[in-house]
Amino acid sequence: MTERVTTTVLAPDEEELDGSLRPRSLEEFVGQERVKQQLAIALKAAKGRGEALDHVLLAGPPGLGKTSLAYIVREELGVGLRSIAGPALERKGDMAAILTSLEERDVLFVDEIHRLNRAVEEILYPALEDFRLDIIVGQGPAARTLTLDLPPFTLVGATTRTGLLTTPLRDRFGMTYRLEHYAPDELGLIVRRSARILGVAIAGEAADEIARRARGTPRVANRILRRVRDVAEVRYDGAVTIEVAREALALLEVDGGGLERVDRELLGAIVRKFDGGPVGLSTLAVALGEEPDTIEDVYEPFLLQLGLIQRTPRGRIVTKLGRDHVGAAAAAGEALF
Ligand SMILES: Nc1ncnc2c1ncn2[C@@H]1O[C@H](COP(=O)(O)OP(=O)(O)OP(=O)(O)O)[C@@H](O)[C@H]1O
Ligand SMILES: [Mg+2]
Repeated sequence: MTERVTTTVLAPDEEELDGSLRPRSLEEFVGQERVKQQLAIALKAAKGRGEALDHVLLAGPPGLGKTSLAYIVREELGVGLRSIAGPALERKGDMAAILTSLEERDVLFVDEIHRLNRAVEEILYPALEDFRLDIIVGQGPAARTLTLDLPPFTLVGATTRTGLLTTPLRDRFGMTYRLEHYAPDELGLIVRRSARILGVAIAGEAADEIARRARGTPRVANRILRRVRDVAEVRYDGAVTIEVAREALALLEVDGGGLERVDRELLGAIVRKFDGGPVGLSTLAVALGEEPDTIEDVYEPFLLQLGLIQRTPRGRIVTKLGRDHVGAAAAAGEALF
């Protein structure tokens, strides 16, 4: 197995720095059973034939395991990996340089692939389909196209928004997997696993409480676990009991439904400032002082899933359930603004 991992400009986040919590194999990867089954078959078949795995697109909200799965694919194939962030590639030449550095059956991981610049993306089309690179050298009448053969490789693309992918690019993926939010029992397993790795003693019901309030997202579960551990260490003897977990969650302003302050602010803004909606995304973004993309990618999927808001052609509206939540938060004495 090669230990060749090159990372080109990938924004490091807490998980990236503390990579120890990342699952390393399909076996360690909790949940997403259908995706794992299909991927396991594809991996086994490709390995059996000694071929590169077909290109894989991983889609879904942030923190559900797309990057982890990309690394697992590489690990299971036992090949090299190049990892790049879509928006960081500015020129065709950058992509050409990366493609020509690939070795046979390597994995090229492109994060945020929906944000690739169009010219860079076009270089990918023949590379993905025929493992060929067309380079134009010279200018004007003297310009000619040089064709380079590339070794067969696997593109693993990750995106929070399949809708923003161009059709030619989307069509070149042999497999598309959509990751779903995790069920509380799956998140419970993830919290227990992370606690084990971090060496934190945690009561079963404390793990379940964190899982219930982690908005269906492993990254959030791990983040809460870290903060809960802080409280356990600073205020207590380090062990995470249900009381410690509840105290820490209250400190973090995560409510019983897993909503954080900004979720409640979002709901409250639609109800109070826009009379329940409909309100357009950009208007809402200005009212909250957030980026529209962040609202759409990070906050809304969970609120939509809980049925607290709806997206309509005329904008966002808060549902009856959402209004009740805002009412309950206000009754609990929370100063929303
Ligand atoms: N199925 C899983 N089992 C165990 N841990 C997981 C799982 N999925 C994600 N995690 C944990 O959550 C963290 C975040 O996952 P990851 O970075 O793969 O998400 P992502 O989908 O790539 O997010 P983004 O869209 O923000 O890039 C990982 O570091 C890992 O610790
Ligand atoms: Mg990622």
